[in-house]
Amino acid sequence: MKLALLFLCAASLLIKPGKGNGSFCYDEEDCGPKSWEDTCNKGRSQSPININSNHKILSKARKAQLYYSRDYCQNQDFILQNNGHTIQASVRADLTSTSYLQGGKDNLANKRYVFSQLHFHWGSNKDHGTEHTFNNKSYAMEGHFVHYSSEFNSFTEAVDSNEPNAVVVVGVVYALSNEDNPAFTPVLKAMSKLKKAGDSTTGTKLNLVELLPDQERFYNFQYNGSLTTPGCAEVVLWNVIGNRGRISQTQLQQFQLELDGHSKILQDNVRPAQSLNNREIRVYDTQITLSQNSHPGRGNGGILFPRRKNQGWRG
Ligand SMILES: *[C@@H]1O[C@H](CO)[C@@H](O)[C@H](O)[C@H]1NC(C)=O
Ligand SMILES: *[C@@H]1O[C@H](CO)[C@@H](O)[C@H](O)[C@H]1NC(C)=O
Ligand SMILES: *[C@@H]1O[C@H](CO)[C@@H](O)[C@H](O)[C@H]1NC(C)=O
Ligand SMILES: [Zn+2]
Repeated sequence: MKLALLFLCAASLLIKPGKGNGSFCYDEEDCGPKSWEDTCNKGRSQSPININSNHKILSKARKAQLYYSRDYCQNQDFILQNNGHTIQASVRADLTSTSYLQGGKDNLANKRYVFSQLHFHWGSNKDHGTEHTFNNKSYAMEGHFVHYSSEFNSFTEAVDSNEPNAVVVVGVVYALSNEDNPAFTPVLKAMSKLKKAGDSTTGTKLNLVELLPDQERFYNFQYNGSLTTPGCAEVVLWNVIGNRGRISQTQLQQFQLELDGHSKILQDNVRPAQSLNNREIRVYDTQITLSQNSHPGRGNGGILFPRRKNQGWRG
């Protein structure tokens, strides 16, 4: 009897999933965040974090500008993939380099950041879906708009450089709302053709900028951090937007129909908040500018127009 038990244990050890970058998970029993190795547990600049956003902090916000290129603002064909850890949208490779954002001298060192992919983190309930928390509170879903500095040829090259600021991720928090958010429709339409890890499909009419909060100005919290999945490379200049986007319960439930790499419901793909370790969090009161020209800043420059009227802080 004892011997049989011993064998069972040995067998379960053998089939225990590895902790390499591809086989991580979010269940603490086996391959969850506490078991992630190397930079994930040794790093001192890990993400996500908890962000304090009281009025005193917001009142110290510095003014900043953020420009979005024309292709960032218009409908694009895209590839949607269930990779077992998330649902990820990438724009077609031949268009990628024309979707970018650019900050000012102070907030993004005047660098151009090329859009690479957008993916989501969400929960099994509306209060546990974001990786970043605000005053320790989590919301239904967080979108990560991943970009790499145009000094590099690809996202992988940017990550491998190990330089801080090689990657910019814009984090958008979506709170639950009663009405559907039409900006999600292209993603949801394509997602209905996906089910399990490894599935991928194509979609049309994805407008990235429509998935940002519906404001011409927003607060963003900037800090030096990491990728939130293994290997947790500390190459990310995070820009977490303080204003909320929105998603309906029905739309969220469609994400909860997807399966992860272990054929379980893909949800709660959320790494807990990491220690701040004396890092600075800068607050910007950011003016968003959308470009109608694909090459702003060149020649005569593009025609820049502001977004809809600011609806103010909805913290
Ligand atoms: C995980 O990713 C890191 C950084 O990209 C890399 O150095 C490491 O070798 C990877 N580990 C595995 C097991 O693939
Ligand atoms: C957030 O939680 C941490 C640890 O549980 C606690 O120390 C801190 O005071 C909380 N912060 C806020 C703003 O509630
Ligand atoms: C991030 O790190 C870089 C390089 O160490 C530094 O110059 C920059 O000021 C840091 N940014 C923030 C927001 O702390
Ligand atoms: Zn993410």
